[in-house]
Amino acid sequence: MKLNTVKLVYFSPTRTTKQILESIADSLGAETVQHLDLTLPEADTSRFEEIRDDFVVLGAPVYEGRVAKTAVSRLQRLRADKIPAAVVVVYGNRAFEDALLELSDLAENLGFIPIAGGAFIGEHSFATENRPIANGRPDSSDIAKARDFGTKIRSKMENLESIDDVSRVAVPGNIPYIDRDRSALADKAAKTLEEKCTLCGDCESLCPVGAITVGDAVVTDELACILCNACVKNCPAGARVIDDPMINKIVDWVSKHSQARQEPEIFM
Ligand SMILES: Cc1cc2nc3c(=O)[nH]c(=O)nc-3n(C[C@H](O)[C@H](O)[C@H](O)COP(=O)(O)O)c2cc1C
Ligand code: SF4
Ligand code: SF4
Repeated sequence: MKLNTVKLVYFSPTRTTKQILESIADSLGAETVQHLDLTLPEADTSRFEEIRDDFVVLGAPVYEGRVAKTAVSRLQRLRADKIPAAVVVVYGNRAFEDALLELSDLAENLGFIPIAGGAFIGEHSFATENRPIANGRPDSSDIAKARDFGTKIRSKMENLESIDDVSRVAVPGNIPYIDRDRSALADKAAKTLEEKCTLCGDCESLCPVGAITVGDAVVTDELACILCNACVKNCPAGARVIDDPMINKIVDWVSKHSQARQEPEIFM
């Protein structure tokens, strides 16, 4: 089967997942590659047609060992009928735990056939210069591995006579998935350093959950914030921060214990 049309479907607040999916697509040999970006709040209400492309790459970041919750609820709005897919999670060099299995199960429930899986590494959302965790990743080696993954998917698909010949890929993970419902992060949020803020509005337009309103001041809906760090990493004035004693403690621990370089893993 040749892949003429490919769709990249992703939730990617700090864009590392998007980067990995684009690199995979570079090697799929498709005539057209379309993006279905589920990162902004419109993805909660837009009407999605049934997906009919030859191949789909579904990607999401790992939050607390699982697929980011916002990604799950947006992906659940998609429908397909036996469309072959690759499932890809991107994590911040700590661990991906049950996220890849969760994404693979979700894909199958939506009508995709997950024929390949990958866990890649991206700069940790909470990383800073002073508290690095996988800073600068994906780097050139990660990109090369993502392209190689694309090549392997392409040859697997080219060797198939019909989609009925393919079976679901096995990926690691446990059932039940790791529990995050009692997360200590639930009531935490990013905030604004008013003395630095220029009220430019950038953070309002890039917040994935519409938690920020910029008027005479920046107002954050603390219960809505998912701590994705998109506003923190993209504020041109450096005026958005996540500065909470408990989060600082967790991130210090992650930074200390996640310095050994993890490498991408693929499952075919
Ligand atoms: C709330 C939250 C929880 C996270 N949990 C994990 C985790 O369990 N393991 C890990 O290695 N990285 C974790 N990360 C880091 C992200 O998975 C990583 O930075 C990823 O590259 C972000 O993807 P994006 O750039 O597409 O938004 C977490 C990030 C956030 C914001
Ligand atoms: S992006 Fe930064 S400077 Fe612009 S409104 Fe938001 S907090 Fe203020
Ligand atoms: S306010 Fe929260 S959810 Fe919105 S961009 Fe900032 S960290 Fe992400």
